[in-house]
Amino acid sequence: MKLSERKVVGSGFVYPVELHEDFVGLSEKLGSLKKISHAFVLTSREIAGIYEKYLIKELKASSIPFSFIYLKAGEKNKHIDRVKKVYHQLIEADADRNAVIIAFGGGVVGDFAGFIAATYQRGIRFIQVPTTLLACVDSSVGGKVAVNVDSGKNMVGAFYQPEFVFAPLFTLSTLPKKEWSCGLAEVAKHSFLDGGDFFERISNSKRADFYEKSETLRYAIEESVRVKSSIVSQDEKESGLRAVLNLGHTTGHAIESLTLYKKYSHGEAVSVGLVTALLLSKEILGFSDSNFQKAISLMLQLELPTVLEEKPELVLKHMEHDKKKDGNTLKFVLLEDFGKPKFGVTVERKTILEILKRHKGMNLNG
Ligand code: NAD
Ligand code: GLY
Repeated sequence: MKLSERKVVGSGFVYPVELHEDFVGLSEKLGSLKKISHAFVLTSREIAGIYEKYLIKELKASSIPFSFIYLKAGEKNKHIDRVKKVYHQLIEADADRNAVIIAFGGGVVGDFAGFIAATYQRGIRFIQVPTTLLACVDSSVGGKVAVNVDSGKNMVGAFYQPEFVFAPLFTLSTLPKKEWSCGLAEVAKHSFLDGGDFFERISNSKRADFYEKSETLRYAIEESVRVKSSIVSQDEKESGLRAVLNLGHTTGHAIESLTLYKKYSHGEAVSVGLVTALLLSKEILGFSDSNFQKAISLMLQLELPTVLEEKPELVLKHMEHDKKKDGNTLKFVLLEDFGKPKFGVTVERKTILEILKRHKGMNLNG
């Protein structure tokens, strides 16, 4: 059953993000696309192992032929080295320009499948069917598709929008607890960027509400999609405003890379990075102490990682490898207030180091 729908509208694209209870309705939606020769479901065996039978049942309700292509789970498999094999699988299956890719999984599958769709035969259509909270609230929306190369994450990619996003929320029932943190960190980020009622209402929720109260979960996803799609609609290709979605990411990327992508998943690293960004916001843009306390309380209620465990000097060094570097300064997304983000804020190395040291020394356990 369809629960809600929001249109993502930009220059040259419009598509719906639909929240559904389960897979019912996916076939009909797929059938509404013109002239599909074949649907290729790109997923991992882990996800397929739990949900394939339900998805197959639904896909059989349409007359569209379909088959499955599997990617190994995990960030390290969202890699350029895996791409060639999938192209070959598509060629061997006679996939033509009317084929459609269904990205069925979390952000790893979504980014990878989107990259395949953007490049196979110069671009074929694709659909996002997100199964993690992070993918529902963030990666399935906005058209950033990418793969990693040995020297960096998401270094090869495109802006390539899906035909539609179909989020079957029942799949979140099997999501491991660690993965909830990843999605909830992005929910917190969106609520900071938006301020207002979204932040207030999320602040009154505790983590268990997201598992136990379907209306809390739905509200958080719908509001996150609203915030993200409004930004993407104004600046699809990140020539400016879209950068605000990177709040928390400068520190996040640095600690992910310095711990060799083993200790933190993307969302957990962003969560720690949000705290650094809030501290810098206080120092540089006058973000108030009471707002800082409110933001931290929300993160603690959601049981998100907040503590910086890595050495500040190493974090800074890894930030400097990041694409946002600029001489003796780095650029950050910071907040003047909830709902008032600023991108491209220049911060000197010594200030960053001081703030990272402050972050590391803080007792953030409530
Ligand atoms: P993920 O895709 O690796 O999924 C996390 C784990 O959960 C995996 O082991 C997966 O197999 C498992 N899983 C997925 N759905 C499940 C379910 N319903 N039940 C049980 N297990 C399930 O991780 P993620 O957090 O969804 O995505 C992270 C990726 O997203 C990163 O590569 C990041 O760069 C990317 N990302 C992209 C964007 C974007 O705009 N394109 C935004 C944010 C993050
Ligand atoms: N996750 C950041 C973006 O989509 O721009």
